[in-house]
Amino acid sequence: MKPEKPVSAMPENWEPPVPAWSALPRAGKTTIAYLAAQHGDKAMALQGLSAIRNFLEVQGGPYHVDYALSTIGADVTDAFAVAYFHGPEHFAAWSEQSGFGAWWSSDARLSDASGYWQERLTLPAERMESLHSSNVPDGHAHGVDLRGPIREHNYWGGMRDRIELSKDDWLETPLSQVLDRQVITPASRVVVKAPLNFCIIRSGQDLSDSGEEERAVYAEIVKPNLIAGMDFLAQQGLEIGCAAARYAVEITPDGTPLARTFGNCLFVSMKHLEDWSKSHPTHLSIFGSFFKMLKARNNQISLRLWHEVVVLPNDEQHFEYLNCHPRTGLSGLFQ
Ligand code: HEM
Repeated sequence: MKPEKPVSAMPENWEPPVPAWSALPRAGKTTIAYLAAQHGDKAMALQGLSAIRNFLEVQGGPYHVDYALSTIGADVTDAFAVAYFHGPEHFAAWSEQSGFGAWWSSDARLSDASGYWQERLTLPAERMESLHSSNVPDGHAHGVDLRGPIREHNYWGGMRDRIELSKDDWLETPLSQVLDRQVITPASRVVVKAPLNFCIIRSGQDLSDSGEEERAVYAEIVKPNLIAGMDFLAQQGLEIGCAAARYAVEITPDGTPLARTFGNCLFVSMKHLEDWSKSHPTHLSIFGSFFKMLKARNNQISLRLWHEVVVLPNDEQHFEYLNCHPRTGLSGLFQ
């Protein structure tokens, strides 16, 4: 029988074999806005992104932005920004002052060459966590200090333990129906509401400080497993509770690829993400290949791994898709 209150899976007297760090909670909320342009042609998608970028790079804008490219099948490219704000008031003030809000809601966007999408998440600190293999910040951690080395990692269930709310809450989603995509009307704005406790991960791999040899070992041993895992989640993820998945290569603001990638996956609940990470052959292969890489390099690596996980509250989230491919994000999944 399920215990009344969640119980930590941390082994007794746990001392992790390797160090890791986690973002300290910040007072107030954090807003993470994924803002994208979408087109069949990469150059056009990048052109769409440059319009978004002009709004982002103003005074009073986000405290951190990463830019990235990902594809849906062979035909569609998403060029997007992941922009971090100090909560919804900061986002709203920026959106108004920069002109982004008016630009986004204008009917003119529906006749632009590219489609656009926006996935905006607002979280209290108790619904977010991060894990970093070194004390270098990434993602929302750019806005706070890191704590560490921490004890809550290196065992299945560490992610849950780093989410403050999980001490009292199972973080289950009320979703009862099986996920299935519906046909959505093309040439329109699709606004979607994700259920309570939807769980979103951005899982990053940073080879910026790695030399050529290390990059080659990573490309041979780890990357094919990562690509296979992300392909599985993108193509068949619905079967195991992953509503959407994108594998992204980070770029400079003008579109040059960086040695940084990430998987961004939208899971029905934290339990679904946990089950995939601890028992699905695709993550276990990724996980196993990382230890092979360590062995091949005599534990000498500069690769940095990090992730941030958020568990959505019922309100203050916004998923909107303008003229996008029907398999984009949550479009077609929820009313
Ligand atoms: C090269 C890519 C990856 C590598 C090398 C990797 C490796 C690892 C390692 C070593 C851990 C244990 C971390 C710790 O607790 O100290 C871990 C945990 C985890 N990984 Fe991955 N991973 C990769 C990609 C991904 C991706 C793309 C996702 C999701 C889409 C993911 C989801 C998770 C989750 C959710 C956990 C935490 C599980 C828990 O604490 O219960 N990983 N991974």
